[in-house]
Parts: sequence; structure tokens; C-alpha cells
Amino acid sequence: MPKVTSTISKKEFSRRRKMLMAHMEPNSIAILPSSTEKIRNRDADYPFRQDSDFQYLSGFPEPESVLVLIPGREHGETILFCREKDRDREIWDGYRAGPEGACSTYQADDAFPINDIDDILPGLIEGRERVYYSMGRDQQFDQKVMGWVNAIRAQVRSGATPPGEFLNLDHLLHDQRLFKQAAEVRIMKKAAEISAEAHCHAMKVCQPGMYEYELEAELLHTFVKAGARHPAYNSIVGSGKNACILHYIENTRQMKAGDLVLIDAGCELEHYASDITRTFPVSGKFSAEQKAIYQLVLDAQAAAIAVIKPGKHWNDPHEVSVRVITEGLADLGLLKGDVDDLIVEEKYKQFYMHRIGHWLGMDVHDVGDYKIEGEWRVLESGMVMTVEPGIYISPDDKTVAKKWRGIGVRIEDDVVITKAGCEVLSGGVPKEIKDIEKLMRKKK
Ligand code: GLY
Ligand code: MN
Ligand code: MN
Repeated sequence: MPKVTSTISKKEFSRRRKMLMAHMEPNSIAILPSSTEKIRNRDADYPFRQDSDFQYLSGFPEPESVLVLIPGREHGETILFCREKDRDREIWDGYRAGPEGACSTYQADDAFPINDIDDILPGLIEGRERVYYSMGRDQQFDQKVMGWVNAIRAQVRSGATPPGEFLNLDHLLHDQRLFKQAAEVRIMKKAAEISAEAHCHAMKVCQPGMYEYELEAELLHTFVKAGARHPAYNSIVGSGKNACILHYIENTRQMKAGDLVLIDAGCELEHYASDITRTFPVSGKFSAEQKAIYQLVLDAQAAAIAVIKPGKHWNDPHEVSVRVITEGLADLGLLKGDVDDLIVEEKYKQFYMHRIGHWLGMDVHDVGDYKIEGEWRVLESGMVMTVEPGIYISPDDKTVAKKWRGIGVRIEDDVVITKAGCEVLSGGVPKEIKDIEKLMRKKK
């Protein structure tokens, strides 16, 4: 397994900041806070994860930091406030870059101790007409921004000019993050490869009698061994009827021969997510009913992927998947009536109640609008999305024959839109019935 090192270059971070600043209104300033450390219980913290917007623009890995971008500022446009170096704290908690390191290693033009921010930042905001920040995401930070602006307002009789306008940074920044550069796609491909390997491994070791969490352990082991220290979201390992709970994360049930198990798990690598779902038989062989539902989901996914290319709308693959699934459910007798009517009346939602997917990037449900001025967004090269149709037949759905009840299937892959069409990043794990059964015969 390759050793993981950061592959986003300083030049790329600088390019991102420049691009954002080029789109900001004249005479403006942008302010972005880092993530804060979060307590899990008493004095034990959750693992620290940098805020995606902050990471995207700075690459600076520490909490208690604030990034300030001031386009056109003579003494430098990128300013970082961060913790000072502190020998004692560094012995206990680890390395800190300090303001000096923020400049030398992370290319800030200026850097100051975070404890001095209340004294310094109002002076940087003063004279700028517009302030961009992510409003309403963090109440404490909202109050701080107001505090800095009020400090300037208090000085108006001495000639200070407070900003007159607040703008939401999310619109500009999130649209930029939606389009992945080559270096980002490379990382996402590697993340998907690691996750695909983990899913293959889970298929190989799966046996009746194992607990769901044992498969979770195998997934996490593969992630961490490859240098992807954290899953991009809580792993779902749902066997039997648990596969019908869309976000099942208890993972405590003992699996039995005859069950399907649905695994929705993906690692995060260098702050980029992967998101893969596979559903397979615990014993290694699909039953006739499982096969019928599985093949239908697989056909819906293939049909959806086939329409993904620049110029199509965000909703097109969803609509295609709805048609394939509705026709298939009608053929199997699970839905009754005319297919067009079933679609218009959304009867398929009894079994397929979510949408085809979501943007994927630094966040698993990544940023970026799905509609622009009320219309579904046009797909463009560089966007990355998941394609994840599913069919879930509730264990207590009395409207269907007993043999179908409790079957839950989802198949999910990660897809990058290219100039020519699209590329599946997560193809390293099988999904054809015969290929899954073959892999599961090759037990370790
Ligand atoms: N794993 C969350 C999702 O598939 O959206
Ligand atoms: Mn998923
Ligand atoms: Mn997903």
C-alpha cells in the first residue's frame, strides 16, 4: 500500500484563493473560521476534522484558526490567524505551525496570533464595503463577526468606515468546489479504490454467523491500513431486514444464511470522500427473489450511468432510474397498473423513496446547487456525483407477497463527469450477480 502524503500543491491552494477573490465584489473581504475541537465525552475529543471550506482554501490543518482574504491588499491578500507556538502545549498535544509557519509552510502573506484577532481584524475590515462569510452556520462565529464590525461602528465619529453589506460566501465558494480539478479527481479515485478493496474484502470474509460489526471492522481495517484514517461517514452494514433502514448504523445483528447484507461504506482520503454501496448474499448465493430485485436495481443503475454526460440535467439519471425500476416492479407484480400512471402518481416511492444520488467531494453530501433559478442544473465536466438507486421492501408490507418482504438492495458508485461522458471511479468492486458469487467462492 502506498504511503499517503498530501498531493494538493501549494500552487493549487494559491490558485483556489485567487479564483475565489477574482469573483468577489469590489472592495470586499472574506472571513472563514477553521473547525473547532469537539468533545465526545468528558475530556475525550472526537478526532479533529478541518472544515472543508477552510481546508480547500488554506490546507492549514489546525483548529482555532481564521483565514482572511482581502483582494488587492497591498501588503498581501491571504492572512491567517492561528495559535502561537507553545513548547509546553506542543509536548502534550503536538506540533503547531505558529504564525511564522503559517507564512513559510502555508503561504499566508501575513499571520497573527489568534489571541490578537479582536485587536487586528477590525482594522483589516475597516474601509471594506462588503464582508463575505458563511452566515448562520456557527452562531458563535456570527456573533464574533458582528463584534468586529461593531468595533468599527463605534469609531465612525473618528472617521472609520464600517462595511455596509454582508454577503453569503457559500454561493461563490461552493460553486467553485463543485468543479473538481485533476488533482482532486486523482485523490477521489484513490479513495474509491481503497473503498472498493474494502468492499471486496468484506465479500470474501463474510460467513453466516458473523455479526454485522465484524464486517465493519474489516472495512475500517482496510481503510486505515491504506492511510485513509477515517470513514467519510458512519458505515452502514445492514443484513436481512436491516437493509431496508436507509441509514442503519447500529451494525449489531448476527447474520444468517439466506440474508442479503447491504454495506454502504467509504473512506475519506486527504479530506475527499468516497461513497460505495454493495449488497450481497451472506452465504454467497442469491435466492430467486433476491436475484430479481438485485438485477432490477443493477439495470436501473446502468441505465442512469449511461445518460450521465455534459449537457444532461441533474434530474435525467434519476428519471431514467425511476422508469426502469417502475417497469421492473410492475413486471414482478409488486406494482399494479399502467407504468406511466405509476410514475406520475409516484407509486414507486413505496419501494424507491430516495433520489439517485448527490454531489461528492470533500463532504460526502458535497456542496453545490442542484437547481439554478428553479431549473435542474446542467451536468458539466469536473462534477462528481454518486449513482445509487435502491429497492427496499418493508418487512411488514402486507401489500406484497410474503416472499418479497424484507429484501433491501442498493448499489452505489462514484462517477466523475468528463468531456466525453463519465467515468466510474469505484469500479474495483464487482456488482454483476455472477461476479459477486464468484468472488465469494474465493474465500480466504
Ligand atoms: N452514505 C450516504 C449516502 O449514500 O448518501
Ligand atoms: Mn452511500
Ligand atoms: Mn451516497
